[in-house]
Amino acid sequence: MMETSINILIVSEWEQNTAQLKTIAESFSSHVTTVNYSDAIREMNRETRDIVIVSQFETDASVEVVQSIRLVNPACLLLFVANASDFTLLRSIIRSGADEFFVFPDEASLFASRFPTIVKNYENKKNSMEEAAVTYGRNRGKIFSFYSGKGGSGRTLIASSVAQTLKLESTAEVILIDLNTQYGGIESVFSIESNRSMADLMPVVEELNESHIRNVSETQVDSKLEILISPCDAEIAESIDEIFIAKLVRTCRRSFDYVLIDLPSHINAQVVAALEESDKIYYILAPETPALKTLKQFESLSARLGIHLANRMEIVMNELAKENEVQQNDLKNVLRFPIAASIRRDIKGLQPFINKGMPIRKIQKERKLIPFAKDIRKFARDVLKQ
Ligand SMILES: Nc1ncnc2c1ncn2[C@@H]1O[C@H](COP(=O)(O)OP(=O)(O)OP(=O)(O)O)[C@@H](O)[C@H]1O
Ligand SMILES: [Mg+2]
Repeated sequence: MMETSINILIVSEWEQNTAQLKTIAESFSSHVTTVNYSDAIREMNRETRDIVIVSQFETDASVEVVQSIRLVNPACLLLFVANASDFTLLRSIIRSGADEFFVFPDEASLFASRFPTIVKNYENKKNSMEEAAVTYGRNRGKIFSFYSGKGGSGRTLIASSVAQTLKLESTAEVILIDLNTQYGGIESVFSIESNRSMADLMPVVEELNESHIRNVSETQVDSKLEILISPCDAEIAESIDEIFIAKLVRTCRRSFDYVLIDLPSHINAQVVAALEESDKIYYILAPETPALKTLKQFESLSARLGIHLANRMEIVMNELAKENEVQQNDLKNVLRFPIAASIRRDIKGLQPFINKGMPIRKIQKERKLIPFAKDIRKFARDVLKQ
């Protein structure tokens, strides 16, 4: 028996065919679902199907279901099992988007013997398409993590504001992911009240796709930024493992131009997974001695954990102010990483937004921007130029 993660859906109204097809399919994959015609489209939408086998029913219904399946998933392999070699029917079935057909019962054994090759060819095609999408595809999005070893340094506010600004200042598809389990923070920046969270994606992790993610994410009303929040239940949050994080981030990379991740300050398996998947790690740093010490500790911890920071990590200076003990210029020679952005301390400007749970920007041409929003805009524009 060949082990495969191929997801197979059998659409059939005829019990004998269903049983026969199921036996063949199940010898290849543990992901086999059988449904009636009436449930076919719902099942197509629920999960991404690799191979769909439609067994013939009434002519019109058969043509219609093949067409609809093709519409839901243009990439799946669609096989049709006919009850007789009716040339007219088979021609319209192929026109409707079926890839191959077999006439049962005459060709049942032919089908069984060809099925391994069909699965194998499909898998090869799928793998090479996935590789191509990641390596060359114009859809290869960028993953940016926002991190700091110190709590309260501004990660959540900066990640949220950069995400919102990227969306307002470009046509890019942007998603913001909150990995601060239990006490997110992003919900309060955008006043989100939701009981949906990334934990809802765990049951579909094997076939995770863009529509699963968009079903669970919140859309920010002004910018249409997608926001994926973390579960607030500690137990559920803990059950999210690094494999899930890696899958989630990789799936987002295929569908979004920018994937921004707000990380907690403590290091756990989820954080390590996110850092490893990141194209850039923006380390939020306040110009003060304790913050610099924490940065050094993070550097040595990363070295021990095998997380490579060189060429990936950049510093985002935050809370810059004249009265600080250390100035940005003093740091240029101390830091081993380039400074990607400099953000002023802006307590007065931020206060009303934080109190009301309002994003610092709502429209592209904002009449008056607070200093914090201006610094974020410069940061976001630099990101867009890369
Ligand atoms: N440039 C700034 N000027 C003034 N206040 C700021 C600035 N940046 C962040 N703050 C304030 O610092 C506080 C903490 O910010 P934020 O929640 O973004 O930090 P965090 O690193 O995500 O913290 P946590 O450890 O709680 O996740 C917020 O109340 C925010 O208003
Ligand atoms: Mg935070």
